[in-house]
Amino acid sequence: MTAPVEQAEPVQHAEHAEHAEHAEHAEHVEYADTNQHYDLDPEIFGRFLDPLRKYSSALYTSETDTLAEAQEHKLRFVADRLGLRGGERLLDVGCGWGSLILFMARELGCDTLGVSPAPRQHDYIARRAAEMGVSERVRTLVGHFERLDLPERSFDAVTMLGSIVHMPDADEVFRRARAVLRRGGALYVSESCFRSDATHAEFARRAGTDFVREDIFGWGDMRPLSALVASAERAGFSIASVDDLTGHYRRTIEDWLANVDASAAELDAHAPGLAAKLRHYLEIANAGWGYTTKHYALVCKKSR
Ligand SMILES: C[S@@+](CC[C@H](N)C(=O)[O-])C[C@H]1O[C@@H](n2cnc3c(N)ncnc32)[C@H](O)[C@@H]1O
Repeated sequence: MTAPVEQAEPVQHAEHAEHAEHAEHAEHVEYADTNQHYDLDPEIFGRFLDPLRKYSSALYTSETDTLAEAQEHKLRFVADRLGLRGGERLLDVGCGWGSLILFMARELGCDTLGVSPAPRQHDYIARRAAEMGVSERVRTLVGHFERLDLPERSFDAVTMLGSIVHMPDADEVFRRARAVLRRGGALYVSESCFRSDATHAEFARRAGTDFVREDIFGWGDMRPLSALVASAERAGFSIASVDDLTGHYRRTIEDWLANVDASAAELDAHAPGLAAKLRHYLEIANAGWGYTTKHYALVCKKSR
């Protein structure tokens, strides 16, 4: 398979980030040594994602919902599951191109911090935050969540949409998420999972899984839901809800695939063969829903 089509220049390394900076001064803590996919030109993602560039499952409420509408429904669903009313301190781990933090800052006046190892995502978020007039409520940090020193008990809510799949030590991730939450705070995780331990063992090393994990991303492991729940419980969380969003992710990817086809020429202008490579990845992702793979939303409470 081909190498990643484009990579960002390395940025300055630093050991710890004790203070988050405003988005326009996003602190470059360390270069993303995995997940090269997320450091491609943000305009590539603008070609096939919704206008918010949300790169995770949408939530469709009718047959006629557009992708853009369904992504907004999903963000409202996340706010609802977390019980957000407005003004909360929110940490988004794996913030992508900022869809969630920009939305929660604008719609609910939340004070948000986004974390991601991909430097180009932060530059993009800083620009969007300025355009939307929410820079004061949108800060970002470049780094791996598992290695950042964030102050304990400093957030009312933590979100992880499609990001824990890229973090090898799930116990450490849940432990850190709980540590940064205030007592009574909540963690929302939505993630793609193998359907069971047995499916994980059988499919984790198949050619299609290897292609997505290594050629597209750099690292990723879809654990079964039971493994995520066990990590959450070991960290001291109390599970508040589980929703099955599998059908919603299938439809989301169908919409992305239609957009890839509609803008194949523009995608290939970024890098020859890019449209076919994206199509191959998305088709693999959509082949297993319900059989080998599932997509869940998990809400965990720090009740004590
Ligand atoms: C599938 S994208 C989802 C982005 C966003 N949550 C959304 O819904 O649009 C996964 C995100 O996780 C980030 N990520 C990967 N490894 C990470 C890590 N160790 N710590 C924090 N973020 C990470 C990637 O850079 C990317 O932004």
